[in-house]
Amino acid sequence: MESRISLNMEKLSHLFNNSLYLLLVVSFLLGNHVSFYFHFLTVTFFLLILINIYYLYIQKQHALLSNFGLLAQIRYMVESVGPEFRQYLFMSDTEERPFTRIERNEIYRKAKNVDSSAAFGSQLNFDHTEIKLRHSMYPMDKSRLRPFELVFGEERALARSHVITKPLMISAMSYGALGSHAVRALARGARKAGITMNTGEGGFPKYHLMENCDLVFQMGTAKFGVRHEDGTLDDDKLEKLAALEQIKMIEIKFSQGAKPGKGGLLPREKITEEIAQLRGVPMDRDVVSPAYHAECTSPEASVKFIRHVQEVAQLPVGIKMCLGRPDELGALLREMKAQMVFPDYMVIDGAEGGTGAAPKAFMDDFGLPLFTALPLVEKLLREEGVRDRLKLLSSGKLIHAGRQFTALSLGADAIYTARGFLLAIGCIQSLQCNNNTCPVGITTQDPALQKGLDIEQKSQRVANYVNNLWHDHREMLAAMGKTTHRQLNPDNVYIPQPF
Ligand SMILES: Cc1cc2nc3c(=O)[nH]c(=O)nc-3n(C[C@H](O)[C@H](O)[C@H](O)COP(=O)(O)O)c2cc1C
Repeated sequence: MESRISLNMEKLSHLFNNSLYLLLVVSFLLGNHVSFYFHFLTVTFFLLILINIYYLYIQKQHALLSNFGLLAQIRYMVESVGPEFRQYLFMSDTEERPFTRIERNEIYRKAKNVDSSAAFGSQLNFDHTEIKLRHSMYPMDKSRLRPFELVFGEERALARSHVITKPLMISAMSYGALGSHAVRALARGARKAGITMNTGEGGFPKYHLMENCDLVFQMGTAKFGVRHEDGTLDDDKLEKLAALEQIKMIEIKFSQGAKPGKGGLLPREKITEEIAQLRGVPMDRDVVSPAYHAECTSPEASVKFIRHVQEVAQLPVGIKMCLGRPDELGALLREMKAQMVFPDYMVIDGAEGGTGAAPKAFMDDFGLPLFTALPLVEKLLREEGVRDRLKLLSSGKLIHAGRQFTALSLGADAIYTARGFLLAIGCIQSLQCNNNTCPVGITTQDPALQKGLDIEQKSQRVANYVNNLWHDHREMLAAMGKTTHRQLNPDNVYIPQPF
């Protein structure tokens, strides 16, 4: 099969290369005898022939170019625009990854407050891969639905506990991964929608603070914003930051679904002077955070570190992780019991989670997917008798009410989403977050690209997305015969078995 393809390519390239010489002669003759303007073509073909000679006989880096010349270059060019062609012309509405066009359109509609009802029937498969929710024969009257309230820090009777009134929060995305316009649009949107936003691990949250929303300050393994020069925790900086009115909780990131076992990565292209200053890092190389917190080398040390952060911050303190080995989480929970120290919440990020940049092997092959991990974590917490000591949050493609309800039924108390909100502010899934070339100005530091992102308009989209999700939540609770999210449990979920 391969030899047939290369034989065709060989014949084609001979034809193509010889045609260039022929065209050069023809345009030269036409230029001399018909019209001078044909000499523009003569010059063009002459240049193409020179480039072809360079590819065929001089450069040695690309075998394809050495063997087939310009034709191979055309092949490279077509290949490079292949994703766009497939996305716009050839892929069906249910094919794209990580989110299909149907999934994305639903968010665009919600964010623009456009009716999202559909006709004729679902485009999903209804096979053994699809989880479904169970409705009740006796739906609830919506007037009987009770308000949602979740109090972080109530287990420790904290003076500065944090209350959320919708089970939705904006998941960690750093300033650095995102540009300042995107951060401000999300933060302003969070304020309008009355939800809490996570700062991500990008250091001092300068742009988040401008918008006056409730914030979770995330401390990644490099502790940007609260570190000593050697990378260890600077208690004074943390204390000062935690004292800010808008900082409601602190989140210690152990790992994240898209790259568990690996520290954060900020590519050099995205490091501006300001980012280097806010994080305390050099500008001339990729910033790779350590794979783990220097203080957290064992269950005992990790629990001590959680307690230390709780003591310094005097705020609810959560931990974020992607589940790898349940036995390790079991050991951590037992150590928490031994020291009588519990984080105020735990986030389980599924392996399907997103990222600004990560090595592909880690994105594809590490960590447990959310709907496998969540029931395991819930079971471990119950087996160790500590389920009531902390809140459980989850993330991993929870961009629609359906998957959110599945997570809430499998044990989560609240939902984090990152990419749901990126789509709400106009992400078109061009998969360029790591290149500083995001065409809609979200995951880029380039001012020319950020210019197109109108902060006020996009912040309203965030609020609309939340309000429409909340509408769906209420409708779905009623359909399931519940009065509150707390009544959701695994019996509400149907997980088909493969046949
Ligand atoms: C652009 C981008 C940047 C991110 N930055 C961080 C980060 O700084 N810290 C972190 O813990 N997770 C980070 N994440 C992961 C998200 O917080 C979240 O855990 C993950 O994307 C799963 O949620 P989702 O599927 O709703 O996007 C990032 C994700 C994206 C898309």
